[in-house]
Amino acid sequence: MKGSTRIIIALAASAALAQSGWLLADSPQTVDLTQWKVPDPSTLPRDAHGRLVRLGRQMIAETYKFIGPEVADKSMRYAGTNMSCQSCHLGAGTAPYAAPLTGASAGYPTFMPRFNATYSIEDRVNACMTRSMAGKALPVDSKPMKAMVAYIDFLSEGIPKGAKRIGEKTKYLQEPQRPVDLAHGEQVYKDKCTACHQSDGHGKRRGKAGDAKGYDFPPQWGADSSSEGASMFRLLTVMEFVYHNMPLGTTWDKPQLSVDEAYDVAAFIVSHPHQPRSGPQVNDFPNPLDKPVDFAFSPYADGFSEIQHKYGPYAPIRAEVAQLKEKAKAAAK
Ligand code: HEC
Ligand code: HEC
Repeated sequence: MKGSTRIIIALAASAALAQSGWLLADSPQTVDLTQWKVPDPSTLPRDAHGRLVRLGRQMIAETYKFIGPEVADKSMRYAGTNMSCQSCHLGAGTAPYAAPLTGASAGYPTFMPRFNATYSIEDRVNACMTRSMAGKALPVDSKPMKAMVAYIDFLSEGIPKGAKRIGEKTKYLQEPQRPVDLAHGEQVYKDKCTACHQSDGHGKRRGKAGDAKGYDFPPQWGADSSSEGASMFRLLTVMEFVYHNMPLGTTWDKPQLSVDEAYDVAAFIVSHPHQPRSGPQVNDFPNPLDKPVDFAFSPYADGFSEIQHKYGPYAPIRAEVAQLKEKAKAAAK
């Protein structure tokens, strides 16, 4: 066996342990991103590294200018939407519980059940390129990839490999135990979201279509939105993100919506078509038991419909998935 193969297998095994919670228990360190002092790239020297990190920050904040679908150089049109990474990774990836990029480099390489493969930070960026950004993967050695990763690495300085990050991803929120109410969701959207995201849900462009200037307020659905394969098309992710971050200016510790409002408005958003599910679907959750319960596309290990996976209620699905996992574990012994 080649050395590199052995390393990958060892990584996969330790990631599987981490998944089952073992490594977390004696994890080397916990870093609290809600208290973390985010480093400022403008303090870096004016050398090649400093310039690359600052470029990376700008690419995360203004992605549409560099690799969007309207940039003049057609060979650079990697993203399939004029949104930016920052549309979701708020504050150029520095806001806790808005899928922060702070410390992200410390989490890779890691085993990703969705792809049944060990993932580098570049692979993870490309997972957002092909799904969230409805586009194409960036070559690993391209300037945009190098710049964005240099910035993410910079945001990760001082955070040990494998550290548990309080404030990562979106903050867990228990959803209401009832079917979603789309009419209520529409009302919440009208009252609290249209001022920015517009009543047609297509967002508000900064300039005109074709000028690669992106959005003041990003689309919630439609021809220039994220794709249906992205996390932002999963009801529970949208609910958690919106509850802790929207309307704009909301922070995770001072939510402005009720849980019921966040649940129903999230359902209203995912009830509208987004860009088609994009990215290589081969190997997308090869073990359906790894699929998040709110993933809207079959096949599933359980017997519930796509509609119930998309909109809940989730408690019965979770119960059955837990049972199936127990069975699979017993069978593997
Ligand atoms: C439509 C929303 C959206 C957009 C746009 C988006 N992302 Fe993401 N991204 C997410 C979400 C949500 C997660 C966290 C998913 C999870 O719960 O694991 C994530 C996770 C990540 C991670 C892993 C973070 C970690 O802590 O492990 C990286 C790296 C990343 N995105 C990079 C990017 C880059 C670079 C871009 C732009 C090229 C981008 N994303 C655009 C929604 C988005
Ligand atoms: C004051 C303006 C404003 C209001 C009101 C507002 N948002 Fe946003 N929202 C934004 C901006 C701006 C971003 C992107 C952040 C950036 O680009 O820096 C965003 C991002 C988002 C995103 C992630 C990106 C995407 O488009 O998928 C979602 C989801 C979202 N908002 C949902 C909502 C919902 C639901 C409401 C109503 C409850 C709401 N927002 C109210 C300004 C607003």
